[in-house]
Parts: sequence; C-alpha cells; structure tokens
Amino acid sequence: MTHSPDTETWAITGAAGRIGTTLRAGLSGKVAGLVLIDRREVSDLRSGETAVLADLADPLALRDALDGVDGVIHLAAIADEADFHDLAEVNIVGTWHLLEAARQAGVTRVVYASTGRTIGMYDVSVTVTTEMATRPDGLYAVSKVAGEALCRLYADKFGFTATCLRIGAFKAAPQDDRDLSVWLSPEDAVAAVLAGMAQDGPSFNVVLAYSDNEHSWVDLRGGRELGYSPQDNASDHLRGTPITQGRQAGALGDASFTLDRQRPFR
Ligand SMILES: NC(=O)c1ccc[n+]([C@@H]2O[C@H](COP(=O)([O-])OP(=O)(O)OC[C@H]3O[C@@H](n4cnc5c(N)ncnc54)[C@H](O)[C@@H]3O)[C@@H](O)[C@H]2O)c1
Repeated sequence: MTHSPDTETWAITGAAGRIGTTLRAGLSGKVAGLVLIDRREVSDLRSGETAVLADLADPLALRDALDGVDGVIHLAAIADEADFHDLAEVNIVGTWHLLEAARQAGVTRVVYASTGRTIGMYDVSVTVTTEMATRPDGLYAVSKVAGEALCRLYADKFGFTATCLRIGAFKAAPQDDRDLSVWLSPEDAVAAVLAGMAQDGPSFNVVLAYSDNEHSWVDLRGGRELGYSPQDNASDHLRGTPITQGRQAGALGDASFTLDRQRPFR
C-alpha cells in the first residue's frame, strides 16, 4: 500500500521544538492533518493543525492524542547530554509510553528522531554505515540507542513500520568546521521524515539523516535506498577546514562533557 499524505493525519511529538517547527512548515500543504503534541504550548496553528498539551510521562494522554492518527513522528526528548536519570525517564520510558500508546491506539507507523551521536565515537577516518555497531558518544546517545531498540521491538513483535533517523547537526545553515561533515539542512530534514513516513509494512529501518555534505563521515546509500535523497551540501554555504582527525563527536566525546552533567550519587 502506498501512503497518501494528502489524505492522512500525522502526529508530531515535540512539535514546539526546533525540528518540530521546521517540520510543521515543511509538511504544510503536503499532509492533510497534523496533531501537534508537546508539553509546551504550540502557537500560531495553521489550517489542518491541532495542538495537544501532553507530557511523555502521561501515556493515557498520548493514547487519546493518537486516536485516529495514521502515523507519528516522535521528536519529543531531552535533546542533549543531561543527567542519566532524566534522560532515562524522558527519552527511554517516554519513548516506550509513546510506542505503547500508539500500539493501543492502532497507530503502527513511526518515525523516531535518533541522533548521529549514536555513532559519535567512530573516528572521522571511518565512513559509518547503518550496518555498523553503534558507538554512543555519551548518555544522551545511549538513551537514543535504547529508543532505537524499542522501535525495533515494536517492529519485530507488534508489526510496526519503524524508521529511526540518526539526525546530524540540524541547523538553518552550517556554522563551524564540524558542520562541514555533519550538517542536516531544514529541507533535508523534512525529506528524511517524508521518506520515513513513506515506508510500508512491518519493518525496522535506520537512516543516516545528514545532508549530502562533500566531507561527510557517513555513508548515505542506505537512506537513498529508502527514498531519502538529500540535496544540500554544507560546503556550498560555509568556507572552512574539514576535520580530518579525531572522533566524529569532537569535544562532545570528552569524558567531562558527560560527567559534568551527572548529579552526584547520594
Ligand atoms: N537539533 C539537532 O541537531 C538534533 C540532532 C540529532 C537528534 N535530534 C533529536 O531530534 C528531536 C528534536 O530535536 P530539537 O532540536 O527540535 O529539540 P528541541 O529541544 O528544540 O525540542 C524538543 C521538544 O520536545 C518537547 N519535550 C521535551 N520533553 C518532553 C516531554 N516529557 N513531554 C512532551 N514534550 C517534551 C520540548 O518541549 C520541545 O518542544 C529530539 O529527539 C532530538 O534528540 C536533534
């Protein structure tokens, strides 16, 4: 079955955030209805949009919000390194709440916002594919690996169509040397989500959601096979010196980046 977004209603969790706001604009006119779920208020609703204030901690509210929806794009998360208790609660338990609420509401198509930081500890000299093991650069990335595993479980056990986007550095424009390799443009972010939502039948997919950067450290071929064809190249927007040594994560891979954000044991 081919999906027709122009007759479907999709839900977006984390709709008030940076990527959610970009998606709302990018999907406007392409998808018939959007249910915008966030614990923060979403403002300036367009035609076809409905806002639902709900927290990932409240699975019943999520289940109600997903009633009658054709698919869900799960962005809501703590989107950076933090204390692991908080990451586990929001990014792991919260993702399970979302998936289980979706299952109970009969919604089995999910696009999950994972991160390129799940592979951040690879050296920049390695071209990473989706077949390779994850090497998370911190506890945020660990929580996203767990989210991917939950998606895989819901695909294998409950027949979900689950697509995990390992999102690079999402920015309006590349800003620094690292972005020459890991940038994801707003237009390519929308394209990655559309490719994920176009998948059909029980399946688990991982897409490296980066723009087509000429200094890329990842292999985009797997995503292209799933219909994701990025158009942008950071080097067309920024002159800089590509990074040729060290970890893909850069300073995010340093021990202190993780340790400084943990509450002390008591
Ligand atoms: N921005 C990037 O470069 C990037 C890179 C890789 C992955 N990602 C992932 O993409 C997703 C979106 O990123 P973003 O940059 O838009 O983040 P963001 O922080 O701008 O937005 C996240 C949204 O989630 C909501 N949220 C957080 N906790 C919630 C909860 N418990 N219940 C309900 N809503 C909650 C927030 O209110 C916020 O509106 C995240 O999952 C992030 O981890 C982002």
